[in-house]
Amino acid sequence: MADKEGVKREAVKVDKNYYTDVPFKTNGNFHVKGAANLDWGMKKHLTNIFNPKSGNTVMFAFDHGYFMGSVSGLERLDILIPQLIDHVDVLMATRGALRTCVKPNFRKGIALRVSAGSSMINDDLSHELVSVDIEDAIRMNADCLAVQTFIGAGGQLSSIDNLSKVINAGARYSIPTLGVIAVGKDMERTSQYFKLATRIVAELGANIIKTYYCDDFDEVVAACPVPIVVAGGKKLTEKDALTMAYKSMLGGARGLDMGRNIFQSKYPVLMADAIGKIVHNKYTDKEAWEFLNDKIKNSGK
Ligand code: R5P
Repeated sequence: MADKEGVKREAVKVDKNYYTDVPFKTNGNFHVKGAANLDWGMKKHLTNIFNPKSGNTVMFAFDHGYFMGSVSGLERLDILIPQLIDHVDVLMATRGALRTCVKPNFRKGIALRVSAGSSMINDDLSHELVSVDIEDAIRMNADCLAVQTFIGAGGQLSSIDNLSKVINAGARYSIPTLGVIAVGKDMERTSQYFKLATRIVAELGANIIKTYYCDDFDEVVAACPVPIVVAGGKKLTEKDALTMAYKSMLGGARGLDMGRNIFQSKYPVLMADAIGKIVHNKYTDKEAWEFLNDKIKNSGK
């Protein structure tokens, strides 16, 4: 490990080269980045998440209730989720939401939220624990285990502890881990931060990383040896959300893990379809926007 003094003494700045135009070298013939050397079970779960044709995924995130309660748009999961299920690839949710509000007769991936401990009335959201044991994740048929990870925040140590415990448990039963990069309220969404956080979480063994779009996103992706899916974040206009999705895919994301920009849209199903066109069918943001408008017009809403 480089010692602090060594770092301070270093006088010559060494440039970095992300080789953003060079494809990832060690994928073998498997469609998920960084997973070529994993076993059959891991690969099967990852294939339930990432479409083998496009290599990409549309995850629908509705796990917000685990710390935000009933946010706008998610008041009635039992009404919303059945409408959306056929329009996305993966449901990202808590076990409570899945067991109570989603019938098990669907054939989509499950990203199971397994960390908890914060709520919107906390000052510091970064202190969580592992809230779901591995046996229950297996009972839920989870395709990956989602853990909130706070790099640079007060709860960094405990969140890395949580992440490591989940990765270790998942490895015993061939269930991948999804590291969710959290951004504290005083932190900036810069490529410098996301390069640090995504790389730390990947090197600790996460198989998928969820993070936000930022400038120089292609460098964040290039330096991360596992697939990155991009969170939607706060509600934007539909047009801006499609542009963010398009730029993310252009920068090398392998999909979106989107919540509010789908379920807070006036047209959640059509928005999910438009995102799917960008993610799986190489639509530009302009084409997806036209697709959305055509569908809205035809729906008569
Ligand atoms: C936040 O940590 C939750 O896990 C959500 O899944 C995540 O924020 C994605 O949802 P949104 O697109 O609304 O940001």
